[in-house]
Amino acid sequence: SAYGTEPGAPTNDGNPGETSELPQPEDLGFGRYLGAHLVLAEHDGARWSAPGLLPRQALCVPVASAGVQYGLSVFEGLKAYRGADGGVHLFRPQAHAHRFAASAARLGLPAVDEALFVESCAMAVDAHRKLLPPYGRGSLYLRPTIHADEEFLGLRRAQRHRYSVVVSACSDPAMKRLRLWAEPHLIRAAVGGLGAAKTGANYAAGLAGLMHAQAKAYDDVVWLDAATHTRLGEAGSMNLFVRIGSRLLTPPLDGCILAGITRDSLLQMARRARLDAVECEISLDDLAIAQQRGELGGAFGCGTAARIVAIDEIGDSTRCIRFSAQDACVSRLCAALKDVQEGGTSDWPQWRY
Ligand code: COI
Repeated sequence: SAYGTEPGAPTNDGNPGETSELPQPEDLGFGRYLGAHLVLAEHDGARWSAPGLLPRQALCVPVASAGVQYGLSVFEGLKAYRGADGGVHLFRPQAHAHRFAASAARLGLPAVDEALFVESCAMAVDAHRKLLPPYGRGSLYLRPTIHADEEFLGLRRAQRHRYSVVVSACSDPAMKRLRLWAEPHLIRAAVGGLGAAKTGANYAAGLAGLMHAQAKAYDDVVWLDAATHTRLGEAGSMNLFVRIGSRLLTPPLDGCILAGITRDSLLQMARRARLDAVECEISLDDLAIAQQRGELGGAFGCGTAARIVAIDEIGDSTRCIRFSAQDACVSRLCAALKDVQEGGTSDWPQWRY
């Protein structure tokens, strides 16, 4: 259902949303143009308050809190799109709510339930409807976050938390092609660690890998498993897919990678289209062998922010694996995903809220 169209749903009349300084949708980029307001709820140790709207810059985050000091915070990233009919919908907010709860549980933060998550996201979109690019030309990215905000320097679970949703008007992701460096020393995550939780620490841990890759003139890093440094994990901050022969492969949810909502959507769409989509371990050797046999198709990274980004090459100090740039299966999935997310098709109606 497209919220905001039912009787009694929140409306945007008179709400904020700075539009005067916005560039063309194609020039928004990602994460730069933030909404003027945020949705905020507070947890006093027992329960969450009702969510309310306040000016984004009015929220103070105490430096002497575990949110800042110990990284006691988790976040989500989801998008709202304007449909061809002008209506606005969120893409799979319930799935994001479930992952948010799992991330919060891993760090001992109070969970935001699905109803509060979806209601607060809808509030954030309604307050910024004017920021939403036209159909097919971009999205409103939402960043729900829980952080510990009790002023206390000791290391323990905090007694006060805040839940906020900020928004950012974004371009449709640019069609670029990536060259990835298979990082031989650093790791992003290990079994039993934080890799499956969407917490700032994962992204902080990844930045040095990005810098290594860029120093070697690659665009980003591809992470290898901690134990053997042979199996592929995430591509930068995205999930990874490769086509070998007739199979579309992606690394399994082993606790070291994020359970991407885009990843899951693509797996479901591929399976419904009767593609052989498989979650399995993929090593650099597997790719090299497929390349020798002429079976290596296209590869891509996927995520909410980036949608689908083609991968041209994965390199390490000894070899360079080159993926096909013309993979019809990948191009079809890419177009189908855009259509499903933006509401250009009536397929997967349960994914639009
Ligand atoms: C997303 O795709 O939503 C992400 O969280 C990536 C982010 C690090 C930019």
